[in-house]
Amino acid sequence: MLGIRLILSKARNSLREGEDELKLEKGKSKLTDAQTKISGHIEGALDREFISQNAPAIPDYLTATYWWAYVSPKAIRFFDRESLVNLILFGNFKKLRDRALDRLGFVIEGKTLQIASVYGDFTQKIVDRLTPESELDVIDIVPGQLENLQKKLCENPRLRLLQMDSSALTLAADTYDQVISFFLLHEQPEEVRSKTIQEAWRVVKPGGRLVIVDYHRPRLFNPIRLVLWPILKILEPFALDLWRHGLEQWIPEEMSSQRISKRTFFGGVYQKLVYVKS
Ligand SMILES: C[S@@+](CC[C@H](N)C(=O)[O-])C[C@H]1O[C@@H](n2cnc3c(N)ncnc32)[C@H](O)[C@@H]1O
Repeated sequence: MLGIRLILSKARNSLREGEDELKLEKGKSKLTDAQTKISGHIEGALDREFISQNAPAIPDYLTATYWWAYVSPKAIRFFDRESLVNLILFGNFKKLRDRALDRLGFVIEGKTLQIASVYGDFTQKIVDRLTPESELDVIDIVPGQLENLQKKLCENPRLRLLQMDSSALTLAADTYDQVISFFLLHEQPEEVRSKTIQEAWRVVKPGGRLVIVDYHRPRLFNPIRLVLWPILKILEPFALDLWRHGLEQWIPEEMSSQRISKRTFFGGVYQKLVYVKS
């Protein structure tokens, strides 16, 4: 318990430090926002589309459980640092990111869907691999996440940022050559997780693939269990579902037979699954 308190108090201190830093940055950021708006008016419409027709509401589970990480604008600014994401993933961010990207393709062709925004340079790395003709759609339910992503990315007319719920995608079936879900499913309650997987699979084209990277039950003697369990229990309660069951638990039957690979990393702490639609 003492250990957990220590971790929490360190986290609180660094959040406070982060807030001070953010106050300083706020002035700068307001100036930049104003400049961006002005340049937007001068240059006309942005190449990137940010569509939020019939925007869905942010679900209660997300606000209740993850306000501190994804919803509040301060949280978005604080957490969107690669060093922090890497710390949360015990130094595995780049490895997991690159393994996921490699399964999308060293050169990514056709249409790709990224389900939910990811802190750090994940989306930019996808963009870097796109061929000149290929397209990327990124969906997220929190408008602040999409705004943040928009600020991070270079302009690209083949990139769309869409406000959408992963469990009810307003996208046509059989549309995407690749769909990627990177550390989203562990953050969702079971019912939402099942629907997100169904929806992701629905929009994959025949011959296309779905790549999932997420938490997994660590091996029995992996000492990281002792550190990670209390953190997940307190901060990410739905994540422990993935310790109790394989992800297969939420995979629809017609999809489970189409898995072409499963790999675990870091003593079983993380997993990468690849499904190809026949
Ligand atoms: C991909 S997950 C976590 C990724 C990873 N931990 C990282 O480094 O950012 C986080 C994103 O999922 C989004 N999200 C959560 N539930 C969602 C839902 N039902 N539909 C769409 N986006 C959702 C959150 O708004 C957040 O931007």
